[in-house]
Amino acid sequence: MSTLIQNGIIVTASDTFEADLLVQGEQIVAIGTGLHEDGAEIINAEGCYIFPGGVDPHTHLDMPFGGTVTADDFESGTIAAAFGGTTTIIDFCLTEKKKPIKDAIQTWHEKSKGRAAIDYSFHLMIGEATEEVLAQLPSVINEEGISSFKVFMAYKNVFQADDATLFHTLKKAKELGALVMVHAENGDVIDYLTKEALANGQTEPIYHALTRPVEAEGEATGRACQLTALANSQLYVVHVSCEEAVRKIEEARRAGADIWGETCPQYLTLDIDDLRKPEFEGAKYVWSPPLREKSHQDVLWNALRTGALQTIGSDQCSFHFKGQKTLGVEDFTKIPNGGPMIEDRMSILYSEGVAEERITLNRFVDVTSTRASKLFGLYPKKGTIAIGSDADLVIFDPFAVRTISSDTHHMKVDYSAFEGKQVKGVVRTVLSKGKVIIQDQAYKGKAGDGQYIKRAKYNEQLRNQIYVEHV
Ligand code: URP
Ligand code: ZN
Ligand code: ZN
Repeated sequence: MSTLIQNGIIVTASDTFEADLLVQGEQIVAIGTGLHEDGAEIINAEGCYIFPGGVDPHTHLDMPFGGTVTADDFESGTIAAAFGGTTTIIDFCLTEKKKPIKDAIQTWHEKSKGRAAIDYSFHLMIGEATEEVLAQLPSVINEEGISSFKVFMAYKNVFQADDATLFHTLKKAKELGALVMVHAENGDVIDYLTKEALANGQTEPIYHALTRPVEAEGEATGRACQLTALANSQLYVVHVSCEEAVRKIEEARRAGADIWGETCPQYLTLDIDDLRKPEFEGAKYVWSPPLREKSHQDVLWNALRTGALQTIGSDQCSFHFKGQKTLGVEDFTKIPNGGPMIEDRMSILYSEGVAEERITLNRFVDVTSTRASKLFGLYPKKGTIAIGSDADLVIFDPFAVRTISSDTHHMKVDYSAFEGKQVKGVVRTVLSKGKVIIQDQAYKGKAGDGQYIKRAKYNEQLRNQIYVEHV
């Protein structure tokens, strides 16, 4: 089957140009002006941009956390992602200390197989770098195609790993060709501060933010950067929320370290005052790291613009307000951390970033798609518009507007952190591997269209890359 997309403006991380696009089967086969193909289905993209489908490197679907399980699973989460223009996700496979890694990966395959609307892959959590765990990592990379490992420096007594685990993981990742990811907050300090707050009767949602200060994130980020330099390894810092962390990453990069940073739409647009909303509404805004003072937003936008931070993850981790967030009505530490973001990740970045002239169109594509696909071994299959790449494409009307609401979103969760917000730009059509899966606000795909992707080792695909020219 062929599809010819005519009259659109193609946008990649480096170029913007008018051209037609011919898709055959799952791939892009021609890019040029005045293309013809007998029998092809025609899509007229006049007045629209054509972006490579978004690559969301940070999701938590069907994940047990905080005494409950996320509201969105691989079916609802990936459909919602597609509505928002994301065509690939990388989800975090959790592990448990002393339990075999292969069982954890199997569990994640069972959660996702036959359910996803778009392609997906996994990162693997390392909770404790025992000899046994380290010995399994070559097969995790080579057989499962999982080339990124996640270490939590926070969530004491739940996910938190110690510095020995982080250092061992960094050393092993360098040896094997994987990228180490960190949740960088000082979990021990946060544990002290939360116990102190509760002892003082400070139980409301705002104390979630006040007990996770910027210093705790800055310190952990700096420590992770130093350990990476010491191990001569590679690091990706997830969900950077504040200036203190940005500065540590900038400093390490300036010194030549191989370190990358991600932020999320929530840190660019929402702030600590949202946690003060009455009637426990502040619980809707409980993320870790927490939302910060508004002044941090400019630092984060500047970091995206200048390249000090390079990607945008959704950190999709949705919980209903009623029945899930409300678990913490009497104690903020019992509010499950996280929020619904997979669907609006690209919308918020386009509207607040490109339309407000904080970042360029090409930078938008880079941070929402291309860079993550390069860092996580998906490029050039994903993350760009080129001959031979998967036809994961988003036809995007930059002049249309829409209002975000939980009444119309596709995430299975009873609130939106952006309720009533008007955004510029609307996703018109989404193709995943050549097949139209979203058209005119309707889902046309089916569960199981999305396949598990084995990823290349860190940097390997880029080193071996053969560039193809546009015709
Ligand atoms: O609050 C958050 N970020 N929830 C998801 C888990 C994590 O730390 O990424
Ligand atoms: Zn985290
Ligand atoms: Zn996360």
